[in-house]
Amino acid sequence: MSDALAIRAAGLGRRFGTPDGEVVALTGVDLTVRAGELVGVVGRSGAGKTTLLQLLGALDRGYEGSLQIDGRELRDLGDRALSRFRNSRIGFVFQAFNLLPDLTVGANVILPAHFGVQLDEAEATRRGKALLQRVGLPDVWGKRPLTLSGGQRQRVAIARALLLRPALLLCDEPTGALDATTAAEVLDLFDELRREQGTTLLLVTHDPEVQARCPRVVTLEAGAVASDRVRAEGPAAGDP
Ligand SMILES: Nc1ncnc2c1ncn2[C@@H]1O[C@H](COP(=O)(O)OP(=O)(O)O)[C@@H](O)[C@H]1O
Ligand SMILES: [Mg+2]
Repeated sequence: MSDALAIRAAGLGRRFGTPDGEVVALTGVDLTVRAGELVGVVGRSGAGKTTLLQLLGALDRGYEGSLQIDGRELRDLGDRALSRFRNSRIGFVFQAFNLLPDLTVGANVILPAHFGVQLDEAEATRRGKALLQRVGLPDVWGKRPLTLSGGQRQRVAIARALLLRPALLLCDEPTGALDATTAAEVLDLFDELRREQGTTLLLVTHDPEVQARCPRVVTLEAGAVASDRVRAEGPAAGDP
């Protein structure tokens, strides 16, 4: 069991230089996330959602302001410490899934075990198969990703992100390619992870059904937090 991660961003900003000038992708973002929270991140295209996830996932250190995960400023970590931290504690489900087409599904799922982490092949395989089962794909281990549907690939990407039992799971549109029933099953899985492992989850989503299951929803507009709403947790009995 891993310790869940807490996040604290203060005055967080990110600019990109482009041939057409500077783009302010994020600005003045203050965001505190407690360990074990499930936070939906919403906003129109270009609002800064992916940029925020990449910063929180320690994939990009070119930020302004402060970004602390478990009390450590990411900017102050060296390259090796940062990648060790990222590989061992953070799971990422990318918008484009990022599966390697030349590897089988099984090899894709256990890939994170090959990056300096103490998890032997047999245990990785056992976990990987159990995870594929859990996302409803018991029979795809030896197949190639390109032979699967978009929804199946998305679930493979989720299984891969969970292999090392990350304390923090960051998902960019994790249900975008899924039908309603499968999306609900993925959300059930996320709820289980929070309960069983105390996983902290941030989900970028356009899906109102997914948002309805997030106890807290942060809305980004033009790179800034436009609203940050918390609802009472528990069964959605009072919801319309
Ligand atoms: N690597 C980059 N170089 C230049 N501009 C970028 C880069 N990444 C993002 N942006 C710009 O930052 C803004 C926010 O992008 P993004 O975070 O991808 O938004 P979202 O995920 O909400 O659609 C957009 O204007 C986008 O064009
Ligand atoms: Mg995006």
